[in-house]
Amino acid sequence: MIGIKQFVYSCVLGSLVISCDTTQRVKEEIVINLQERGATISPSMYGVFFEEINHAGDGGLYAELVQNRSFEEKEMPAGFHAEGNKLLPKAVKYHLTGEVRERSYRWSTDEVPAWTLQGKDSLAAQMKVTKENPKFASAPNNLKVVIRDASQPVQLLNEGYWGMNFVEGERYILRTIIRTSSDYKGKVTVRLLSSEGKILSSETLDIINGGEWNDVKKTLTAVGHDSKGRLALEFDSPGTVWVDYVSLFPENTFNNRPNGLRRDVAEMLVGLKPAFFRWLGGCVVEGITLDNRFEWKKTLGDPAARPGEYSTWGYRCSYGFGYYEMLQFCEDIGAKAMFVCNVGLGCQFRMGDACGEHDIDFYIDDCLDAIEYALGDESTEWGARRAADGHPAPFPLQYVEIGNENWGAEYDRRFDIFYKTIKEKYPQLTLIYNEMPQRDGASQITKTDMIDPHWYVDPYFFFRNTTLFDSYERGKYEVYVGEYACNRSVGAGNMLGALSEAAFIGGMERNGDLVTMASYAPLFEHRHDRSWQTNLIWIDTDQVLGRSSYYVQKMAAENRPTYNVKSNITM
Ligand code: AHR
Repeated sequence: MIGIKQFVYSCVLGSLVISCDTTQRVKEEIVINLQERGATISPSMYGVFFEEINHAGDGGLYAELVQNRSFEEKEMPAGFHAEGNKLLPKAVKYHLTGEVRERSYRWSTDEVPAWTLQGKDSLAAQMKVTKENPKFASAPNNLKVVIRDASQPVQLLNEGYWGMNFVEGERYILRTIIRTSSDYKGKVTVRLLSSEGKILSSETLDIINGGEWNDVKKTLTAVGHDSKGRLALEFDSPGTVWVDYVSLFPENTFNNRPNGLRRDVAEMLVGLKPAFFRWLGGCVVEGITLDNRFEWKKTLGDPAARPGEYSTWGYRCSYGFGYYEMLQFCEDIGAKAMFVCNVGLGCQFRMGDACGEHDIDFYIDDCLDAIEYALGDESTEWGARRAADGHPAPFPLQYVEIGNENWGAEYDRRFDIFYKTIKEKYPQLTLIYNEMPQRDGASQITKTDMIDPHWYVDPYFFFRNTTLFDSYERGKYEVYVGEYACNRSVGAGNMLGALSEAAFIGGMERNGDLVTMASYAPLFEHRHDRSWQTNLIWIDTDQVLGRSSYYVQKMAAENRPTYNVKSNITM
């Protein structure tokens, strides 16, 4: 079977014969019978998988320019500790085996990551992260700057995510939450600086000195261009300054959303015509241990109050691109949202802990609340919260994946409970099971709407397995290939890998009655943080680039056939 659109322009009815007569007189023939229709290909077929990995969100899709804006980056998940540049999880029992695994993760040794302080000399001013008089209990850290000598201005500098991209004539919105001691008698000035220290914009903040938090905004217009710029807060008086939050966004975000997305990066996603958007992962759903799982409720509300979480991929993220922003993006681009919930299991590739029996209800309620946040009307608790956050109408949530890459009898048991509870309340939703049969024998679940198998393989696997779905059982559920990529034997990705993915896609389309959704993974890498070898889209401060695999995805989505037709190849 091949897709109809490729041929619909060259023939009307009957059979189409394409032959190829080579000089060696070997005759190859493709016979396409337009009257013999095969499986249709679902409009939901092509979507995207998002996870906070490789700085996909912070420093990537999310337009925030300031790194460590809330000074929360050195917060560790509960019970973890650091040894040098390694973060060590707390000891928990792997729920399948009872073992306590030894693992370690990347940890910054900088005391205040992304920030530096410059004055007349090293004694002129000092900085330290404190929890003194926090503005938000949920994000309690702030930076205390003690200025002793201001005979030359003291500058607090943020380097952004490997630089900040300032474009001449563009406007940037600064927000800072700051307070000063009563002996601080000076101004606070904010400056956009080029990499060489040239002032590209400068404004004085309207603050009242003397102890109270000031929450101030300022718009700065860049008078020059630099893709490796920095932001400075400048102090010109002795005294003490506490900085709770510093944020800088380009005004020109995707769809002009506040707390929005980088326009160029978001447009790359729009180019993929995604029918759905999966959030929030990936392994971050589970966390290294449960204490480290990403929690959607903490991604809501004032960005300055969001605590963020340490991503298992080696850095703390801000939670800036949160649940609300994801749902808003889905609405903006006409995609259905997919929410992935945690079933009370820590990542099974990592520490693999499990919450106790009595706590399972907590995770079910958490998932139901997430659904209510997206779909509930304003009379519901979480629907009202969504309205208060700025969106009275429901958002287009359609899919809930129950766990990410979980397996084993305990997962199956929990899946059944989640499935039944969610289905009873939201029969219209499509619920998805993680299919990892290779790890623990046959699945023992009662029912699912969809299964989600993953493939990270070499090109030859995809070339050999274009018929893989032909023999899959029909009638029980549909298949969502939620993560797949040719990432073995292809370095950071190459044309051979991309072609093999195209071949595999052909097999999925041919089995369109069964495989109704697919998403390549991972989606993004920042060019300075490749913690996963092969990724679809590369990002720098001022550039975004799709690899060959991106163009495979784009071609497939743009030319999604409506149905298959019968074809025969003879040689
Ligand atoms: O896509 C990268 C990782 O691969 C995801 O976090 C996980 O689900 C899978 O193992």
